[in-house]
Amino acid sequence: MNFKSIIIVLTVVFFAYSLADDQNPSCQNGFICFWVGQNYTGDQWRWTPRMNYRDVPRQFHNNVGSYMAKTNACFKNWIPYLTFECNDGDSSDSFTFGKVIDGVSQEC
Ligand SMILES: *[C@@H]1O[C@H](CO)[C@@H](O)[C@H](O)[C@H]1NC(C)=O
Repeated sequence: MNFKSIIIVLTVVFFAYSLADDQNPSCQNGFICFWVGQNYTGDQWRWTPRMNYRDVPRQFHNNVGSYMAKTNACFKNWIPYLTFECNDGDSSDSFTFGKVIDGVSQEC
């Protein structure tokens, strides 16, 4: 194989990986990943226990379409007070509590 073919093969492999990534959304260990859209699409915001309690950013307020958890956490709605406990490994591609979510903390 000459140098040019190696470059072409690498480009194709890299491109295939980027496409695969879009279809298999992932979330780093130790984080909760939130997406505005259902099916893990649109803007993403990540929370990690080190952040303690944190209000979700304005565009995610009552507007989370899907999430993936790689740690345990508690999602909160303040008024009325509602909580949703999630565990490492949980996910939802159409997240009902996302319509009322205000913030995230480590425990309920
Ligand atoms: C999410 O994916 C499911 C299953 O593929 C599909 O039925 C649904 O329409 C999708 N929702 C959106 C908002 O794209």
